[in-house]
Amino acid sequence: MSTAPQQQQHTSICPADLPANVFTLQRTGQLAALFTIIRDTNTHRGDFVFYADRICRLLIEEGLNHLPVVDKSVSTPTGLKYEGVGFEGKICGVSIMRAGEAMEAGLRECCRAVRIGKILIQRDEETAQAKLFYAKLPDDIASRYCLLLDPMLATGGSAIKAVEVLIDHGVPQERIIFLNLVSCPEGLRAMHDAYPKIKIVTAWVDEKLNEQKYIVPGLGDFGDRYFTSN
Ligand code: PRP
Ligand code: URA
Repeated sequence: MSTAPQQQQHTSICPADLPANVFTLQRTGQLAALFTIIRDTNTHRGDFVFYADRICRLLIEEGLNHLPVVDKSVSTPTGLKYEGVGFEGKICGVSIMRAGEAMEAGLRECCRAVRIGKILIQRDEETAQAKLFYAKLPDDIASRYCLLLDPMLATGGSAIKAVEVLIDHGVPQERIIFLNLVSCPEGLRAMHDAYPKIKIVTAWVDEKLNEQKYIVPGLGDFGDRYFTSN
């Protein structure tokens, strides 16, 4: 029996409940279908990578909409002036390793020759506490808008630690845009409480954390599924 097309049902918190600094992608049928593929435990790595990359690209395009622009006038081949806009400042990407590195290719596709810094933060598998191991960032990062990349926002511990590193390197909160595939209310509130002025652009807000501090329904361990699973 065939199933009639239907409107997507959403059980996560509604956007009205989100902190003011949080922006979500529009929940189109396409986005819901892409997420259904990567959430499916039977999806193998090749498809997981392909469809996660598709969502990353949509997310990065939306993140770039949050960068400020200034007036810019150009001449067109018709000899007329076009009063347009250009990006206001320089940007850089900063990925939270390992999973955040999966988002770098999407950023490079949109921003040619973009500089990318790396911060290695790992969650302790027993306690879920985030631990900082390493950071290597562009020298002039303090004068750039930073697109912070991590596909998963669970307790918020890793992202909060990464923002601490950026702020220690002179980046103001107002110049940080955190780009994230799957978040949950707990992580979003923790981030907002710690750093209310950074922008968070998340592709999907899930229901909650489970006892192991994994996002549910979620998609499991993003880094394992993208880099090392079958
Ligand atoms: C995952 C994920 C985030 C973090 C989210 O990384 O990519 O960085 O957990 O959890 P949190 O919000 O509770 O801190 P993990 O430390 O498992 O390392 P990985 O990137 O190597 O998979
Ligand atoms: N890290 C992940 O990859 N997934 C989760 O659900 C939580 C942390």
